[in-house]
Amino acid sequence: MLIVKVVHLWLVVSWFAGLFYLPRLFVNLAMIEADSVAERDRLLLMSGKLYRFVTPIGLLAVASGLWLWLGFGFSGGWLHVKTTLVVLLLAYHAYCGRLLHHFRTGCNRHSHVWYRWFNEMPVLVLLAVTYLAVVKPF
Ligand code: HEM
Repeated sequence: MLIVKVVHLWLVVSWFAGLFYLPRLFVNLAMIEADSVAERDRLLLMSGKLYRFVTPIGLLAVASGLWLWLGFGFSGGWLHVKTTLVVLLLAYHAYCGRLLHHFRTGCNRHSHVWYRWFNEMPVLVLLAVTYLAVVKPF
C-alpha cells in the first residue's frame, strides 16, 4: 500500500506542477501584443506540450487514488469530499484545454487579470484535498 501511496503522491505533485504553470502561461499569452507573433507561437508551443504532458499524469494520479481507495479498503466522508474536489480539478484541467484551443484559434475572451485569479483556483483545491487526506476530519 505504501508503494501505491508514494506513487500517488509523485503523480499528484507532478499534476499540480502543470496545473500551476499552465494558467501562468495563459497570463502571458493574454498580455501579448497582437504583433508579437514569434512570442505568441513560442508560448502556444510550450502550453501545448505542457498540456499533453500533464494530462496522462493527472489521470494516473486519479487512478492511483482510486486504487488506494478501492484496493485497500479506505472509507469515510473525507474520501467522498476529496473525490468531489478532484472531479472539480479534472473539470478545471479540461477547461484549460478549451482555453488553450481559444488561444490557438485567436478567440481568447479573458484578460490577464482574469487568468491571474483563474490561476489561484488549484491552490484552494490543493489546500483542501491535502487537509482531508492527512487529517481525515470526518
Ligand atoms: C479521485 C482521486 C483520488 C482518490 C480516490 C484518492 C484517494 C486517496 C487515498 C485512499 C489515500 C490513502 C490515505 C491514507 O493512507 O491515509 C490517499 C492519500 C493521499 N492523497 Fe489522494 N486521492 C485522490 C486524488 C488526490 C489528489 C488530486 C491529491 C492532491 C492533493 C491527493 C492527495 C493525497 C495525499 C497528500 C495523500 C497522503 C495522505 C496521508 O498519507 O496521510 N489525492 N489518497
